[in-house]
Amino acid sequence: MSKNTIIKIAGLILMLVSFIAFVAKAPAFPIESEKLLPWSVWFLIAVLINMVVWGIVMKLMTFALSIIWFFALIAAWVPSTAIGTGTVTELDWSDPDAVVEIGEGIFNTKGQCSACHTLDTSAPKGRCPDLTDIGVLAATRQPGLDAKQYLIESLYEPSNYLVPGYGSIMPEVWKNPIALTKVEIQAVIAFLQSQGGEIDPEPFDEPIDRADVGTTAEELAPLLSGDLEKGKQVFIDAACISCHVVQGLENPKAGEVNEDFEVVTAPELTDIAALNSMRYIEESILLPNALIVAGYGTVKVKANGITYEGTLVSEDTDKVIVRTKDADGTEQEHTILFSDFDEEPIDEEDIVNLTDNGYFTLTITPMDSDTPISGNIVKETTDTVTLKVGDETVTVSKTEVKKMMTLTDFDGVQTVGEHISGTMDDDEIVLMIDGSEESFDPFDIEEAIIMVASGKKLHDTSPMPVNFPDTLTVVEMANLLAYLSTLTGVTTEETSDTTSENPSEVTAE
Ligand code: HEC
Ligand code: HEC
Repeated sequence: MSKNTIIKIAGLILMLVSFIAFVAKAPAFPIESEKLLPWSVWFLIAVLINMVVWGIVMKLMTFALSIIWFFALIAAWVPSTAIGTGTVTELDWSDPDAVVEIGEGIFNTKGQCSACHTLDTSAPKGRCPDLTDIGVLAATRQPGLDAKQYLIESLYEPSNYLVPGYGSIMPEVWKNPIALTKVEIQAVIAFLQSQGGEIDPEPFDEPIDRADVGTTAEELAPLLSGDLEKGKQVFIDAACISCHVVQGLENPKAGEVNEDFEVVTAPELTDIAALNSMRYIEESILLPNALIVAGYGTVKVKANGITYEGTLVSEDTDKVIVRTKDADGTEQEHTILFSDFDEEPIDEEDIVNLTDNGYFTLTITPMDSDTPISGNIVKETTDTVTLKVGDETVTVSKTEVKKMMTLTDFDGVQTVGEHISGTMDDDEIVLMIDGSEESFDPFDIEEAIIMVASGKKLHDTSPMPVNFPDTLTVVEMANLLAYLSTLTGVTTEETSDTTSENPSEVTAE
C-alpha cells in the first residue's frame, strides 16, 4: 500500500468516527475534563484532510457529510442557549445574564412552571403563588433559610414548606415527568433570583437522592373506578354546583335558597383536574380544611375590640384583607394590620399546637420569671416554643409557665390572678393576687378559666361543608371523582363573561 492510500483511508476512518462520536455526544478526546478536543474539531480536521487527499467523488461525499454536521451543530446549539428546551449540560457563570435567560427558557417550557405560576402581580390570583420579587421574598419565607436555600427547597421538596394559603400540588420538578437536571435547576434558580434578588453562582448539593426518580412519581391507582355520568348527577344533587361553577353545566336549582349551608363564592372547577392530582381533589372534598385555596377561607379576626368575620381575601407580611357581608348582603373589605390584632387568651389545650390554631405571636411568663416574654412564633414543638423577641430568638417551655386564672362568680364578678393550685373539682382554689395568696371556694364560683398564655391569631377555615364523608356513599364519591377527573378545562373557550362581583373597597380605621 502506498503512503498516499494509508493517508486516504486514515482520513476516511477519522471522518466517520468523529462524525459518529459527535452525533452521539461523546466526551472530548484526548482530555475530557478540559474539553480538549471536542469531536466537532476532530471532524473538521478529518474533512480538511479528505478534501485534500481524495478525488472528486469522495470530495462531494465529504462535503455532503459536513453539511449534515453543520446543521446538527446548529440544532444542538440553539435550543440549549437561546430557547432552553434542549438539554443544558453546563452553565457559563461568567455571563450570568445568559444563565438567567436559559433559566427563563426552562421556566416557560420544560419546567412547566409558567403553567401554574405567574410573574405579574396584577394577574388574577390563582391556585399557585405569583413569583414577582421571589428573589427577595425567598429570604423571608422560612426562618433559618436564606433565599437560595429556600429556592432549593421549593424546587426539590416543595411540600416541606407550603406558602400560606396554597395546596401541596407543586410537583417535585426533578422527578418524572418534568425531570429537570441539576444544571437546569441551577439555571431556574438563577432566573428566580433575578426576580428582584441577587444571582449567586455558588454550587450546591442536591438535597435528594436521584435514584428515587421513577418509583415515587407513580400515582396510586384508584380503588374504585366510577361512572362519570352518575358522578355529574352527584355533583348536582350534593349541591356542589350551588357554590362551584363548571362551564357548560347548568344548575337546575339556581336561585333556590339552600337550607343546609350558606352559598359562598367558590373556585371555578372547570379545569380542576388539569393542574391537580386526584388525591388533592379527593382531599378537598373529604377534608376541606386540610388545604384552603388562597382568597376563599373564612376567618374571625379581632382587632381593636372589633370582630371581623368573613372571607380572608389576602394575607401578606403585615396585614390582611377581610371581606365581610352585612345582613342586607352588602359586602365590605377591611384592611387590618397585624399590629392592630387583639391578643386572645390561650388555654392548656390550644398551647399544645399554636401554629395549627393560627397563633403567630405569643405572650408567655416562664415559671421562674415575673415578666412576660412576647414575640413572633418562629418554631414550636409540643413542649417548647421559639419566639423572636427583638433581634434575638428565645426558646421557652410551654409547660413551665405561670398560669393565670379568671374566676367568675354567680353575680358575674370576675377575679384574675396567678394560678397557684386547685380547680373546680377541688375543695379550694388558690390564686396569687397583688403579691398575696387568696383562697376561693369553688362552690361560690360559676366558671374558672385557666389561661397559660395569650397571642394574636389568624386561623382560616373552609366555608365548604365538612359533612360530605357522612352524606356521600363510597360509590357516590367514586362516581363524583370520575366526573371531576374529566374537568380539564378544554371546553371553556366560549364563556368568559361569567358575572364577577366587585365589592366596593372600604378600609377599616
Ligand atoms: C402544578 C402547578 C405547579 C407547577 C408546575 C410548579 N409550581 Fe411552584 N408552586 C405551586 C404551588 C401551589 C406553590 C405553593 C405551595 C408550595 O409552597 O408548595 C408553589 C410554590 C413555589 C415556590 C415558592 C413560592 C413562594 O412564594 O415562596 C417557588 C419558588 C416555585 N413554586 C417555583 C416553581 C418553579 C421554578 C417551577 C418550574 C420548575 C414550578 N414552581 C412549577 C405550583 C406549581
Ligand atoms: C358552601 C359552598 C360549597 C359547597 C356546597 C361545596 N364547595 Fe367545594 N369549595 C368551596 C370553597 C369556598 C372552596 C375554597 C376553599 C377551600 O379550599 O376549601 C372549595 C374548594 C373546593 C375544591 C378545591 C378547589 C381548588 O381550586 O383547589 C374542590 C375540588 C371542591 N371544592 C369540590 C367540591 C365538591 C365536589 C363539592 C360537592 C360534593 C363541593 N366542593 C361543595 C365551597 C363549596
